[in-house]
Amino acid sequence: MPATAAEEHGAHGGHKLIAKGDKCVRDTDEMRRNHMKILKHQRDETMYKGIRTTQDSLKNCIGCHVNPKTNSVASSKEDFCMGCHTYAAVKVDCFECHSSKPKAVSSVAPPPLAGVANTPVGKSIVEGRK
Ligand code: HEC
Ligand code: HEC
Ligand code: HEC
Repeated sequence: MPATAAEEHGAHGGHKLIAKGDKCVRDTDEMRRNHMKILKHQRDETMYKGIRTTQDSLKNCIGCHVNPKTNSVASSKEDFCMGCHTYAAVKVDCFECHSSKPKAVSSVAPPPLAGVANTPVGKSIVEGRK
């Protein structure tokens, strides 16, 4: 890890803090420790109970944490989610299905999801990737 990373960004763990606004959806410490629980809880609420709130949705995270250079949160280790996970050696498979980008960059858009594209759920994911 470059010695400067922590000082430059006031971050830790060798990653860049890329964020809009001055507050996260929870206290920063809480986010560091528990963002995975928040995301998994949100997923369960949506998938099993049909409850959709925008505050904890992935789209919302991406909206604030997208790297303007790559238009993504997880395309490279320069990006917010990936940088930290690479350092912590945590593999996150979420972006195999979910878009890591706030909006389309058509030249790199992945092909539609064959298996789920015709279900209502699949559609919304595929639409999210446009
Ligand atoms: C195999 C494909 C797949 C993978 C892998 C996957 N998801 Fe999902 N996820 C879905 C689908 C399909 C939905 C339902 C989409 C909808 O209704 O918006 C969903 C919904 C969600 C939602 C609720 C919608 C929202 O954005 O608030 C969250 C949060 C979520 N997933 C988080 C995650 C996280 C975190 C991971 C990684 C640990 C992950 N997902 C991995 C397919 C996947
Ligand atoms: C309104 C903009 C906004 C949204 C939405 C948002 N964040 Fe944040 N997030 C921030 C800001 C700003 C910080 C840095 C706060 C600070 O400096 O203390 C932050 C900090 C974090 C941190 C700690 C980073 C570090 O370097 O310690 C994590 C992890 C995080 N956010 C994950 C998420 C996740 C996951 C979501 C979606 C559930 C999300 N954020 C939604 C703005 C946002
Ligand atoms: C401050 C560093 C940091 C940032 C930034 C960060 N993560 Fe994490 N994340 C971690 C660490 C460390 C773990 C493993 C924690 C543990 O297992 O207790 C983790 C675990 C996860 C997990 C659970 C993985 C699993 O399979 O159990 C998910 C999902 C996740 N992060 C999603 C995200 C998303 C999405 C973002 C960007 C919005 C993000 N993270 C940003 C440090 C970070």
